[in-house]
Amino acid sequence: MWKKVWNYDKIAYGGDYNPEQWPEETWEEDMRLLKLAHINTLTLNVFSWAALQPSEDEYCFDKLDKIMELAKKHGMKVCLATSTGAHPAWMAKKYPEVLRTGINGIKRKFGARHNSCPNSSVYRKFSVRLAEKLAERYKDYDNMIAWHISNEYGGECYCENCEKAFQIWLKEKYQTLDALNHAWNTSFWGHTFYDWEEIVLPDLRSEHMSEEETTAQSISIDYRRFNSESIMDCFRLEYEAVKKYTPNIPVTTNLMGAYKPLDYHKWAKYMDFVSWDNYPSNEDSISKTALNHDLMRGVGRGKPFVLMEQTPSQQNWQAFNALKRPGVMRLWSYQAVAHGSDAVLFFQMKRSIGSCEKYHGAVIAHAGHEHTRVFREVTELGAELEQLGEEILGSTGIAETAIIFDWENWWAIEYSAGPSVNLKYHDEVLKYYTALHSQNIPVDIVSEEDDLSQYKLVIAPILYMTKPGVDGRIREFVKAGGSFVTTYFSGYVEEHDLVITGGYPGKLRDILGIWVEESDALPEHKKNGFIYEGQEYSAELLCDIMHLEGAEVLAEYKEDFYQGTPVITCNSLEKGKAYYVGTRSDEDFYNKFIENICKEQQIKPAAKVPKGIEAVKRVREKEQYLFFLNHNEESEEITLSEAAIDLLTQKEYQKEETLVLPAKGVSILKSQR
Ligand code: GLA
Ligand code: ZN
Repeated sequence: MWKKVWNYDKIAYGGDYNPEQWPEETWEEDMRLLKLAHINTLTLNVFSWAALQPSEDEYCFDKLDKIMELAKKHGMKVCLATSTGAHPAWMAKKYPEVLRTGINGIKRKFGARHNSCPNSSVYRKFSVRLAEKLAERYKDYDNMIAWHISNEYGGECYCENCEKAFQIWLKEKYQTLDALNHAWNTSFWGHTFYDWEEIVLPDLRSEHMSEEETTAQSISIDYRRFNSESIMDCFRLEYEAVKKYTPNIPVTTNLMGAYKPLDYHKWAKYMDFVSWDNYPSNEDSISKTALNHDLMRGVGRGKPFVLMEQTPSQQNWQAFNALKRPGVMRLWSYQAVAHGSDAVLFFQMKRSIGSCEKYHGAVIAHAGHEHTRVFREVTELGAELEQLGEEILGSTGIAETAIIFDWENWWAIEYSAGPSVNLKYHDEVLKYYTALHSQNIPVDIVSEEDDLSQYKLVIAPILYMTKPGVDGRIREFVKAGGSFVTTYFSGYVEEHDLVITGGYPGKLRDILGIWVEESDALPEHKKNGFIYEGQEYSAELLCDIMHLEGAEVLAEYKEDFYQGTPVITCNSLEKGKAYYVGTRSDEDFYNKFIENICKEQQIKPAAKVPKGIEAVKRVREKEQYLFFLNHNEESEEITLSEAAIDLLTQKEYQKEETLVLPAKGVSILKSQR
């Protein structure tokens, strides 16, 4: 069960505020405006390192003291950042080792942000020192509800420091060069290493042809593991530093959803709660955002999660920075809350006047007053959230279905040379997630390492890398009565990206009751097809050609030299079933296929609603909160299956009564469990 994320009895509402970019005379007016909009929480000090530490031995907290006092005076809660997302210019000049080197081998100069080498001992020393000083200084500041370490950690570094650290990391991992040479299959192309110091980072000067193309998958995957851990270590060091002084204040760093370079399953273990920044474009599907929310909730494995940033209106960094249409900011905010967030936070409170984010959406526009559409919408939502009080805080979603989403598997699939450049892990996961989401089936996102026994259905789209133990957990899960679904290009390699010989899908073969002999990659314009329950669906991207080893056939290919051979199969294993989908198909197929399995397993949706309405449930011991989110352009009618009260309108409904939900409208129905 989740617990409340922090010591606050309201939904936190607010976000990044950078008064240090403005003259002090403007601050009181900002406060007037923000309070008018029912803002109650400010994320402060995100990018102030250069101001806080003007030189190596000099620290200056005067301005931050004033800002902290300002927030307190106006009753704002504070999420305090450590400012280590961008190092000061003097540091880069004096200690060039803090600068990153890109995959192209070019050492960066001072500039931009998130530009520090994670293995630089100078960066680590100064960032930890700053975090510690902040914690020491503000430990008794009772308005602080959370720590926000750095900002959107990410990227990679290929500098010489990192290379040395990589060699040490490898030594620890493999112990002997024999073990490393074996794991990396270095006899291929004469790569055998005789000394740890011969090992270089896999960049554009060594193994890589481009960022995504490598000649040595095992090395590049290990580098990704190493890089994710190196950056995570920077987070952990700051975490420890602030915890020394404020053991009871929860610590987070803002993640970025399905962000490929960092293995968030590992990161979240060291976070008190997960927080993330949600920046969909208007073209993104609702289910893509929902997947991100569930992923962020999932990596936390029961820890609370929070929406740390979203824009009130538009971004600045997309090609076309469309405005959120009226009502959409509210709708998407509730989508985050429905999926478990106990906060609605924005980037940013006030538009800056210079540099690249001056046209990024903000609560306070350049006009500087409250008479804007965005301000009005923010204010209305603020009033609503305030009125909700602590009602839904700490309640949780419950799912009978899980999708395995695993970063190392993601890296391995997309580094693979062949079978198709269009093989994209996240796309495939999204297809299955969308089938569940469009039927309002709650989903947990889990890793390959997680226990599966609590679920009725587990889907592992492209389970290419089968890490130790995962086949065992799946086998037990199926035997005990679970339904398991996996796809083409699964079971090929172990954790070092070495092929599991003897026939695909490797260790999953007995579970699925098939042997995949070949896999045909179709070019973009080419499709095959199959008939499933009397309906024709497409077969695209990859077509596995397989033999049955106990499984039964659910569909066969329509064309080509493998016409009439199995494409969809089902294997019964003791009490459960394991399904194999040997190709990529279309939305209609996924919907039908998933619907059938859910029916058989008696997996129920959160509610029965018209298409385009998202229904999500959060529960507590005795109460449940059913969110209806109308993503359609028209109003919709929903027949309620039980009596409930709408927390947003206070309207009471009887069982079987019809609720009318306007376009982009939201209802939160409270009822007893
Ligand atoms: C990220 C960052 C913010 C800001 C926004 C702009 O989420 O964390 O500092 O740059 O993007 O969208
Ligand atoms: Zn480096």
